[in-house]
Amino acid sequence: MLDGMTAAPFISTFIAIALIPVAVLFTHAYLSGKRNLPFHKVTGTVGILWDLSASFFYMILRTSTVVTGGMLIYGAVHGTIAAVVILFEFIVLGTGILQWRTRKKSRLHAKATPILYLIWFIAFISGEVFYIVNYLL
Ligand code: HEM
Repeated sequence: MLDGMTAAPFISTFIAIALIPVAVLFTHAYLSGKRNLPFHKVTGTVGILWDLSASFFYMILRTSTVVTGGMLIYGAVHGTIAAVVILFEFIVLGTGILQWRTRKKSRLHAKATPILYLIWFIAFISGEVFYIVNYLL
């Protein structure tokens, strides 16, 4: 525990729950992309748009809560990873729509998706662990 036991801010509980469906959607998108299955574009698009909306909402509201010490260092690292995730989401969504419309394989899509999948899960898991350790234990 970094700053002693505190009650979870509403926005933290909101994001901790809101991101769980994204894990399911991204996993479906990843596996269905590899296998060329239907609904790939749907779960990929919904997952990315859902994640972007939830994290923008979170970032806007979280700026009004003051953090110090260990929380601040954790927040800076976590926030930097989140920014890289957002960049990759734009790349994957953009190349995904492009290869869907042109019906030509995008090498960038194939290269960027495993990176997005991995870093998204790192940000997700570390956020959930942080939430559990700080607010639930
Ligand atoms: C989290 C989001 C996404 C992930 C993890 C993902 C993952 C993948 C993967 C692993 C492949 C196979 C690449 C290969 O090895 O050739 C693929 C192919 C493809 N993706 Fe995505 N993708 C995502 C989002 C999207 C979106 C938003 C679109 C379009 C709106 C899209 C459209 C396509 C298309 C058209 C293909 C070619 C195969 C097919 O026709 O299904 N993807 N994707």
